[in-house]
Amino acid sequence: MDLNVLYERGKKVMPGGVNSPVRAFKAVGTNPLFISKANGSKIYDIDNNEYLDYVCSWGPMILGHNHPKIVESIMDVIHNGLSFGAPTENEVLMGELITSIVPYIDMIRMVNSGTEAVMSAIRLARGYTKRDKIIKFEGCYHGHCDSMLVKAGSGALTLSTPDSLGVTEGTANDTLVAVYNDISSVEKLFTQNEGQIAGVIIEPVAANMGVVPPRKEFLEKLRELCDKNNALLIFDEVITGFRLCIGGAQEFYNVKADIVTYGKIIGGGMPVGAYGGRREIMECVSPLGGVYQAGTLSGNPVAMAAGIAQLKVLKENREIYDKIDTMAKKLENGFKSIAEELKFPICVNRVGSLIGVFFTKEKVDNFEMAKTSNTELYAKYFNYMLKEGIYLAPSQFEAMFVSYSHTEEDILRTLDCAKKVLGNLYNLRKGVF
Ligand SMILES: Cc1ncc(COP(=O)(O)O)c(C=O)c1O
Repeated sequence: MDLNVLYERGKKVMPGGVNSPVRAFKAVGTNPLFISKANGSKIYDIDNNEYLDYVCSWGPMILGHNHPKIVESIMDVIHNGLSFGAPTENEVLMGELITSIVPYIDMIRMVNSGTEAVMSAIRLARGYTKRDKIIKFEGCYHGHCDSMLVKAGSGALTLSTPDSLGVTEGTANDTLVAVYNDISSVEKLFTQNEGQIAGVIIEPVAANMGVVPPRKEFLEKLRELCDKNNALLIFDEVITGFRLCIGGAQEFYNVKADIVTYGKIIGGGMPVGAYGGRREIMECVSPLGGVYQAGTLSGNPVAMAAGIAQLKVLKENREIYDKIDTMAKKLENGFKSIAEELKFPICVNRVGSLIGVFFTKEKVDNFEMAKTSNTELYAKYFNYMLKEGIYLAPSQFEAMFVSYSHTEEDILRTLDCAKKVLGNLYNLRKGVF
């Protein structure tokens, strides 16, 4: 089947031919791939071309595609009915599993996506504190709920403008935007909005402006500021949860959050999200408390079976984290030495199995710096790598995900291709950047 013909058909019935914008490959100026299947570290398009996959469904496939334990677990439950809209044992098991693994979480509520988890967590923070305003960070993505589709108005950090049509100014005004890794920008917002801030939401490792690690002590200072101002700290662990280590960013950085949000990774590839926190906060959620939140498909039996299987494999085989870290480190070191050898200006950031390769010579530690990247060059790099059979994120501002199924051979092949592609790009630009 012709990919382009399918794309044309898709465009007639879906906005941009896709069900989520970045899949349209607009940022890299080409038509999207249509995927038919995946296994381990590889995905295949509808013409059966094989690609080494570093998108990993944007994070959840930490064990690689088609993991036998997950498939088996789904097959075990699928004959018993697909949805009941009533409590099941697996929901209790999932709750017990997460609260036993993750420090500081007493209770959890399952939802269907990361967006829904964040939207609910924000409502909970507001309901619990009886305050309206939320601080977020420029360049952090928290899904597409209205209050998170907001960025700073130029110059004045207190003035927020909607990032999307359809978000009202009223909503935008309750979202304040600070600068990632700049604690003084947060302090300023707390001072200017004394007694009004319900919470601060952050990606503990920013993974939606490329990959940007938190500076040393930044998260600790954020915790202190929230305590000082009686505001809640919300870690959006949709990407970092169960990925940086089994306990996510709270364990990795030893910083306690009040509310934590999860997404895709706890569904093993099925549509899942969750939010959790201390008992006294979570008891504000209906039917116990006055913060309303519900979902027909929440805790869906098939999704729970997949998620439990994935989390159990991770919990019982901690060496998985050592392996994916080692593989990611090899990639990081490889990219750095290729760049050094070729005198190619790139910045490589890595935390655990998350890697960001920025086409800039600057050290990237916030959104302003991420934006210094040459996105045209990234688009060329992406397209050449794709031709070599390496499937990277179709945008400079996304992470590269390494999974347990990536082998040493995969990593070496990726680096060989990167060396060839970056060499060609260097020659194309005659060394001028
Ligand atoms: C940190 C973060 N939060 C929230 C979301 C939204 O999750 P979903 O796409 O499942 O709605 C994402 C999506 O990638 C994310 O990276």
